[in-house]
Parts: sequence; structure tokens; C-alpha cells
Amino acid sequence: MVTLKMLHKLSKYWKDMPIVRPDEPEGGIESLISVNPPAPFTTELNVKFVSDGSDGSDGSHNIDLQAVSNFLTKHNITTTGNTTLCPAEDLRKYQKFGGYNIVMLSSSDKIIGFIMSIVCPIKINPSEKLAHSSKIMCGCTSHLCVAKPLRNMGLAMGLMKELIASGYKDNVYCSYGTATMKISGNAVKITAWYRPIDLAKCKESGFAYKSYIKPTDRGTSRDELAYRVSNLNDRYNIIKLDPSQDVSEHLDYYLSIVNNKKVSFYPDYTHWVKWLSTFNTYVVSDGDNKLGVFSYTTIHANIAETGETVSMAFPLLFVSGTDSSGDNILMKAMLSVVKADGFPLIYIYQCGSLTSELLSQHNAMETSAKIYLNWYNHSVRVTPEDVYLPLF
Ligand SMILES: CC(C)(COP(=O)(O)OP(=O)(O)OC[C@H]1O[C@@H](n2cnc3c(N)ncnc32)[C@H](O)[C@@H]1OP(=O)(O)O)[C@@H](O)C(=O)NCCC(=O)NCCS
Repeated sequence: MVTLKMLHKLSKYWKDMPIVRPDEPEGGIESLISVNPPAPFTTELNVKFVSDGSDGSDGSHNIDLQAVSNFLTKHNITTTGNTTLCPAEDLRKYQKFGGYNIVMLSSSDKIIGFIMSIVCPIKINPSEKLAHSSKIMCGCTSHLCVAKPLRNMGLAMGLMKELIASGYKDNVYCSYGTATMKISGNAVKITAWYRPIDLAKCKESGFAYKSYIKPTDRGTSRDELAYRVSNLNDRYNIIKLDPSQDVSEHLDYYLSIVNNKKVSFYPDYTHWVKWLSTFNTYVVSDGDNKLGVFSYTTIHANIAETGETVSMAFPLLFVSGTDSSGDNILMKAMLSVVKADGFPLIYIYQCGSLTSELLSQHNAMETSAKIYLNWYNHSVRVTPEDVYLPLF
């Protein structure tokens, strides 16, 4: 039973949504399908929706992504005061990957809201109280934004209901995403970290970094030494996966290491090729032995305090196939790739193999950002260590 106390802490909107909750009877995917979509959205305001979905392969798109990007630049100011940006070219990449874009328009056709979801195959392993072990198509949802003057009028829920309804049409019933609040009892807190790479650029942009006492080296400041990204020893190889080649061996390897995780991104070959075409993905090996896989994307923010716009590398997959020594090499490899690609810092969600131990060991810094991973229509209970999903 969901207790009153629990509900009290959750959003007043979400507690009334038809949603599979962790403490409700468990079943297979059928039990999700039987959950009705939310009642249609109604508002006294004169708004309409335009949507694109689901895989964009027919090239027929209704939404002007440049206009969406401009809208986000103006309105996507988060609770931190910083603005999360999304260039049109990134939106185009996500659209090609496959998913949904929903735009809310005013009566004069001005964009007043946006939400998007990319559709990812997710595998959920059974354990104690889990609902099922099926692979499900899950919307990984992000970039929810309502125009500043129109907030607190229920419009975000309108965008979410429209997105949910679009997913139902294509048998995509489940979704997850990060938000600053819990929407259900199985939400899990995710800690965000960052690891400076270019110290001067980080400082200029408003990202602080710790002063280190050790080590001491004449002529080099202590800070610089602590944040130096060293090159990997020659025995290690970092291979960037090329989707125009046969990448089945790498997919098999990736699946073999996520196979026993509680929740993971679990693509078939077509989805893997799409993934590699959208996000830079690398396999790291020690001679002939593969050690792990990582992918990253770029996120962009305008920092309120300094007015600077920063582009940060942001890991989406980080899966080590070995012990903690493998995690270490994988982390070093990721930092060196991100450095070579010219990013001043890497922003990291602590989940899966990216543990607090590993992050502190590599001089990442914990932020105070309040972030929860929320599930819609799934009763899976996870801890951050269980999560091998792309998070945006
Ligand atoms: C967050 C934001 C979209 C809310 O828009 P809004 O139209 O004012 O929201 P509504 O009036 O529909 O109501 C808010 C409800 O939407 C839900 N909600 C808001 N953001 C949500 C999210 N990211 N995920 C799920 N539900 C969310 C909550 O249930 C909330 O209800 P509560 O007050 O009971 O907790 C808006 O403030 C915004 O654009 N902020 C800037 C961008 C941002 O922070 N986006 C979210 C990133 S996590």
C-alpha cells in the first residue's frame, strides 16, 4: 500500500495519474498495457499541441527545431538560475534517433512549451519484487520547459499528458527521466558531479574547483597537477565505434556486460547502430581484453553568475566489464577522450559503475543539485548503482 505519508511527499498532480506504482500488484508488460492513459488535458487557456514522432525516418516533421532551440534559450531557466540550452542540431540528432517532440503553441502560434523523449529499449532483470524481466521500449524524457510567464498553470502536465498519449499510440507505455522532484515512490536521488579538465576555462565559467595540498612539483601549481588528465599507457586501446562498420561484436560485448544489471539500455543491432550514429561511443581494451564501453553526449548551459555558456561532456553509458581496476582505466580513458575533444569539464550523474568512490578518486566534485530519477508506469525499484540507462 502507498501510505498517505508517502503520497504527501509526492507531487499532487502525479498522485492522481493512472500510473503503475511500486506497491501495487505486480504483473508482466500486460499489466502496463492495461493501465489507461491519463484523461485528456484540459485548460481554459487557448493552447494547441504539435507533435513529431516516432522515429523520424519518413522525414515528415511538423516542428521547427530551430524555433524550439530559441525557445529553450529564452525560457529553460532551471531552479539553479542557470539556463539549459539545446542547439537545433542536437534536437535533430535526437529526432533521427527516434522519439517524440511535443510543442505547445499559443493561439497566435507562439511556442509556449516543449518536451521530448527518445525511445530506448530497456531490459529489466527480475529480482525479489520486480514486475517482469521483459525488454520494454521506454521513453527517456527530457527538456521539459514552459514559457516563464505561463508557469504554475498546469501547462507542464499538459505537455506530459500529450507525450504519454503519443507513446501509447506506439505501444511505448513507460518513461523515465530526471527532475527536481519525485513523481512516484520509486524515484531515486541521483547525485551530480563535475570533473574540471581545463581549470582556467572552468573558473572563468563559474565552476569552482578544490585546492589540493599534494602533490608538490616545482613549477606546476598543485591544482593543475590534481586535475591533470594523463595519457593512457600504450598497452590500452581506445576504439571509437564506427556505425558504418560491422559493430555486432561490440554490441555482443556490451550486452554481455549489462546482461546481469537490474536495469540497462539493451539495444538490438538496429538500435545499436542508431545509438552509435547519435552518440560517440568507445570500447577500451587492454591488448586483446576488452575492459568496458562508454558513450557521451554534450550538454550546454548558460551560467547565471558569469553569463558564460559552457558545453560539457556528459556520460550516457559507462559500463565496465571487469573489476575496479577496469573501472579506473575506463574513467581515465573517458577523461582523456573528453579532453582531446576540447571540453573544459565533464558533468556526471553518479549511477551504475560511476560510483562516488570512483568519482572522488578521479578528483570529480560533488554538486548540490537536487535530481531524481523518476519512472512513469513502471514499478521497478532501483538504487543509483542499478542504473545503466542513458539519463539526460
Ligand atoms: C518545471 C516546469 C516545466 C513546470 O512547468 P509548469 O507549467 O509551471 O508546471 P505545472 O503548472 O504543470 O505543474 C507543475 C507540476 O508538474 C509536474 N512536473 C514539473 N516538472 C516535472 C518534471 N520534470 N517531471 C515530472 N513532473 C514534473 C509536477 O508534478 C508539478 O506538480 P507539483 O507542483 O505538485 O509538484 C517549468 O517550471 C519550467 O519550464 N522550468 C524550467 C525548466 C525546468 O526546470 N525543467 C524541468 C527540468 S527537470
